Amino acid sequence: MPQQCLCNESFMPERVRVHILAKELGLGNKELVSLLSDAGHEVKSHLAGIDVEVAEQIRQQFQNGNGSTAAVEAAEHVPQPEPDADKPEPAKEQSADAAKAKGSKNSRKERQDKSVKSRVFTAPAPQQTGEGQELHLKPPIIVKDLAEAMAIKPADLIRELLTMNVFASINQSLDTALAQRVADKHGFKMITDKRQKSSTMTAKDEEQPENAVFDDEEVEARSPVVAFLGHVDHGKTSLQDFIRKTNVTEGEAGGITQHIGATNIEWQGHKITMIDTPGHEAFASMRARGANSTDIVVLVIAANDGFMPQTIEALNHARDAKVPIVVALNKIDLENADIDRVLMNMQQNDMMPEPWGGEFGVCNVSAMTGEGIDGLLERLVLEAEMLELKCNSELPVRAYVLESQLESSLGPTANILIKNGTIKVGDVVICGQYYGKVKALFDCRGTRIESAGPSMPVKVVGLSGVPDSGAVMAGCKNERQARRLTAERGENARKEQLTSTRSSSIEDLFNEIEQENRKELKAILRSDVQGTCEAVIDGLNKLQSDKIDVDLVLSGVGAVTENDVILASASNALIIGFHVRVNPGVNALAKREGVTIMLFSVIYELIEQIRNSLEGMLDPVVREENLGRAQILQVFTMSKSAGKICGCTVSKGVVKVGAHARVHRKDELIYNGTISSLRHFTDDVKEVRQGFECGILLDNFTDFDVNDIIDVYEYKESRATL
Ligand code: GTP
Ligand code: MG
Repeated sequence: MPQQCLCNESFMPERVRVHILAKELGLGNKELVSLLSDAGHEVKSHLAGIDVEVAEQIRQQFQNGNGSTAAVEAAEHVPQPEPDADKPEPAKEQSADAAKAKGSKNSRKERQDKSVKSRVFTAPAPQQTGEGQELHLKPPIIVKDLAEAMAIKPADLIRELLTMNVFASINQSLDTALAQRVADKHGFKMITDKRQKSSTMTAKDEEQPENAVFDDEEVEARSPVVAFLGHVDHGKTSLQDFIRKTNVTEGEAGGITQHIGATNIEWQGHKITMIDTPGHEAFASMRARGANSTDIVVLVIAANDGFMPQTIEALNHARDAKVPIVVALNKIDLENADIDRVLMNMQQNDMMPEPWGGEFGVCNVSAMTGEGIDGLLERLVLEAEMLELKCNSELPVRAYVLESQLESSLGPTANILIKNGTIKVGDVVICGQYYGKVKALFDCRGTRIESAGPSMPVKVVGLSGVPDSGAVMAGCKNERQARRLTAERGENARKEQLTSTRSSSIEDLFNEIEQENRKELKAILRSDVQGTCEAVIDGLNKLQSDKIDVDLVLSGVGAVTENDVILASASNALIIGFHVRVNPGVNALAKREGVTIMLFSVIYELIEQIRNSLEGMLDPVVREENLGRAQILQVFTMSKSAGKICGCTVSKGVVKVGAHARVHRKDELIYNGTISSLRHFTDDVKEVRQGFECGILLDNFTDFDVNDIIDVYEYKESRATL
């Protein structure tokens, strides 16, 4: 058959042309021809065809040879040529003989298996040129680099790899163990650079830097992060103030903590990062965030107050986060401090205290006098030692966003707590849908720093937007990757929003009609940081009832702007500002547009005020109030035009002109209307009280009779509650 026909795939579907396969595998034509000849497949040129089975096998081997263990294992199970044998026997013949000996009729699979073994490539034994010399290579180990390091031609190395049944191209990476064996064969001692290895991400992880897994994440000791949690006013901030010799409580609006904050201190040579959390009920998410980002929780309980609702909530957060809990029994200086009651509370809440033989450490302290605080710190250091906290500061940063905000001078910023790795000015980071090249870093005291390592709280400047609190920030390879990933994430989020279909059952339809009749307060919320924004939204959501909705047209961090006013005016909304200022000129615009701006600095005041506004919007509640009762003693017929009048005695309360009246005969209601006039003797009067007699003229009703009872009532309006 002419060669041309042999190469024509349409006539010869069982064969693949060498040059097509070479192109597919990224090899040169000559290279593949030579590899095939070395392996015993005589091909005259790159235009020749080879068996599809052989081609498939080569493809697979190239895939496996991509540093995968499968290829290494395959190589290990295949008979290897003796390095010092003069003329290594082609394995093809050995296997063929073996198959013959078995004399079996092979299935297709068996044939393939056989072909794998029968086509073992051979190459001249490598020369021991290294003489024990050290080869320093950093993973990933690329064929070309390994060849260069051993001063051999890449093609020779590829050929040698083929003898190990590993098909690898010049730019492919090799499994470290395999590279090691090759180096051994050449008499080299290969040493891989550990540090490089640790910061190498797997291909999949490279795609999502937050999920990247590193070979040795934990190599150094890390200082502990301790979160102070507990009920409002139990002394969390005061304890930290005492420890770091500050006076944060003094400057707090409303005397309560409304932000999550982190500081690091050094006590007797031990570094500790402290997270302060708010105790007010409105800040549940911040407490949860505090518990989730910490190694140890200090549950602060005031000795004069005992377990309170947020103590239990904080305890549950700590339990969910599965972190050790140390109880700081605070305010022991107070006269009404009752330590035993708190220990009892602990026991009731499944926390057997140490003083009573349990496992929960209790430190009696006073933030006022400082008593017991060294003991608390000592205990924290001890707990941390037991945790054996580890990190690797050489890795790209992995951090947790405690708080994020938009600052007028800095743009979007995030207060992060570094879990692992190091962040440096100039690093590219990704955080949810935002990324950035770090422009500046500030430590917890506001000092500009160049880099920060594990357990450090820092403020990061340079992000493309305000990330969500609680989001993970991770170091990214480069800006291009970060931009691409954030664009993808943004697109996915948009798609998700679009595809969240509205259900349209009959029930939903009725609900919608009902909703349309409900009142609604439209509002725009501006807050200083993401966390408070979240807390205010939570608080507003709790105010909603079946009578009224709060529709947040927009919420976000940063000052109140002219755009907010324009939007508020268009949507008939109110602007609520929490811990923010109003940009210049905005108040004047709001006045012109008739938009109300309400500014607050204390969360409970905000919630109370909005509750008032909401209640003010509701229709008043109308109640029926009984005024009195009269019994008809006699019926008088007046003139034809005046009709009949009933002569009564007021047996209870008062009867008033204009009031509503129900006339009952026995137990039957015969009239429900109003009293049009009242007479006391001959005088027209406004009202007649119990014990007096009077004449009652009922509006448009004369069918009453002696002994009928008239119940008098009126409607009273009162302010609705939510
Ligand atoms: P939130 O952050 O709002 O949840 O409160 P907190 O737990 O941080 O309490 P904070 O430190 O603000 O203290 C509340 C009040 O208790 C302040 O007036 C403190 O002066 C007082 N206080 C705190 N610790 C002690 C203490 O040990 N003894 C006495 N007598 N008063 C204390
Ligand atoms: Mg506080």
